[in-house]
This record gives sequence, C-alpha cells and structure tokens, in this order.
Amino acid sequence: MSAVSFQSVSKTYRTPKGDFQALKQVSLDIEEGEFFGLLGPNGAGKTTLISILAGLSQASGGRVLVQGSDVQANFAEARRKLGIVPQELVFDPFFSVREALRFQSGYFGVRHNDAWIDELLDSLGLADKANANMRQLSGGMKRRVLVAQALVHKPPIIVLDEPTAGVDVELRQTLWHFIAKLNKQGHTVLLTTHYLEEAEALCSRVAMLKQGRIVKLSPMSELLKSASSNVLQFKTDSALPAGVAQRARVTGRIVQVPAADAADVEKLLAALREGGVTPEDVEIRRADLEDVFIHIMNEAAVKQGGAA
Ligand SMILES: Nc1ncnc2c1ncn2[C@@H]1O[C@H](COP(=O)(O)OP(=O)(O)OP(=O)(O)O)[C@@H](O)[C@H]1O
Ligand SMILES: [Mg+2]
Repeated sequence: MSAVSFQSVSKTYRTPKGDFQALKQVSLDIEEGEFFGLLGPNGAGKTTLISILAGLSQASGGRVLVQGSDVQANFAEARRKLGIVPQELVFDPFFSVREALRFQSGYFGVRHNDAWIDELLDSLGLADKANANMRQLSGGMKRRVLVAQALVHKPPIIVLDEPTAGVDVELRQTLWHFIAKLNKQGHTVLLTTHYLEEAEALCSRVAMLKQGRIVKLSPMSELLKSASSNVLQFKTDSALPAGVAQRARVTGRIVQVPAADAADVEKLLAALREGGVTPEDVEIRRADLEDVFIHIMNEAAVKQGGAA
C-alpha cells in the first residue's frame, strides 16, 4: 500500500473571472519510506495538491488516499497519519511555543507528550524559546514552531511545503539533519521547495508539476543522468552572439550555456570569440537539478503550445 496515493486529482477554483483549473488529473503514488520531492514553478499547483491531501481543500475530481484512508471519507484517520508544515505562517498569537505544541498534541489525542516535545524543541533549536509567546518570535523561528507542530504526534508521513523559505543557513542544516534522521527511521517525506540543491541532496524521487500537470516523474539519479551534459559558465558584460544567447541562461553578469561535450564547449568559446566577447571566470561543470528543471519546464512549454 502506498503512503500517499493521488488518483486523477483535479481542482477547479471558481473565481470572479471564471473557472481556473489548478490541477489536471494528477496521479502519483508515494511509497512508504520515500523522500519525495514535488517541484514546480510558482503557481504550478503544489500547495493546492497539499491542501487537498491535508483535507483542507476538496478536490473537484479524483481522490487521495493516505495509507489507504480516503482524505475526505476518513478525514480524521488520514489526518492523524500526516504531519503538515504549511507554506503560510499561521499560528495563535496568544500561545507560548510549548503551549502551542501541547495544544496540537491534544488535538491528535496524544497525552503525556512532554519528552517528545522537549526533543523537538531541542532538535529545532527552540529550547530557549519554549516559554516565549508566538508573537515574540522572528519569522524563521515561527517556521521552526510550525515544523515542531507538524511532528508533535509523530506522524508516519511528513509533508513540508517550502519549509526553508526565509530560513537561515544554520536552521536549514539543522532541519534537514533532523528530517533526514526521521526519514531513515522510516518516516515518509513529501517536500516542496524552490531550493533545487536541497531537493537534489535529499530526494530519492521527484515529480515536476507545471500548470497543474505532472510533466516529469523520475528517480533523482535518472533525472540527473538524463541531463548527462555539461554547462559552460562564465561572466561577461558584453552582449552575447545570437547563436549563444538562444541557448544561454543569463543571471546578471553570469551566463550558463548547456554543452554536450568538449567539442561543443570549444564551439561555444569560438562563437564567443568571433562575437567579440571575452568570457571571465570560465568554468565547466556537470549539469545539476536546476539545469534539468529548466530544460524540462521549457520542453513542457513547447508541448503545451508555448502557453506561459
Ligand atoms: N483559493 C484560490 N482561488 C483561486 N485560485 C487559486 C486559489 N489558490 C490557488 N489558486 C491558483 O491556483 C494556482 C496554483 O496555486 P498553488 O498555490 O497551488 O501554487 P504553488 O505551486 O504552490 O506555487 P508556489 O510555488 O508559489 O507556492 C495558482 O495559479 C493560484 O493563483
Ligand atoms: Mg505553494
């Protein structure tokens, strides 16, 4: 039995401007123990899919099972198996951190949970904030509390919707260390993130979502292999020759161009020279998940008729 099974899930939002289809027949099974990444650009439908999984939003079509329990028909049973860290910071300003965690524990009917609550506070660097009021916490600390709240009932399935947005480097490392440990202990993890290097380091399999459709579903290792190409990276202030510009990704002064092999790199360098461009800080690196992601998103745009 899958940990999570999305079966032809569709979602149409009714808006004043008319209907908007945010999810189009999404089918996806996440197996027990997986560290699964759900990736996609802003507005792809990731949070919508997670809110349907959480039972907070109702699918317009299809269904979702959590270890066999239907999230609509068996809401309480399905919900208890899930620990969800929402993308939006929502909290009760009148609670202290410890009270918030005790309250959440009570909600799931878990009593005498202080030992685990202390471990969570410790592991997430919140021990000295246990009695602080939620209002007094910084944004990053509030996010830590949301993570602790999601884990308070030791759910077998942990769902993280951009848990590291606005979080400093140290907490990111603490958080990933902790989540990776839980995953090793057998917890299934579903993660969305825009930090692709995090996804590359952590996820064993990923789905890429674009405009409400899955455009790629693959083990991470195959995804990276499928890229198999290299990237020529350099800095310049000059305008690129058209042939290079077409293939390049430009961020400020930094230019990245996919290259199949050494011969291709040579051709690119020759084209730059002919175009009067002197590249600085030249590097050749292996393609990473970000390169693969951009490639897949562009391909999907072409297939969907170039619709943005
Ligand atoms: N309550 C709503 N009413 C109408 N449209 C909505 C609603 N919630 C989301 N949408 C639309 O559905 C689409 C998917 O939104 P969603 O929040 O699921 O995207 P996302 O993949 O989580 O994006 P991000 O990376 O920015 O978090 C977007 O176009 C969004 O504007
Ligand atoms: Mg989102």
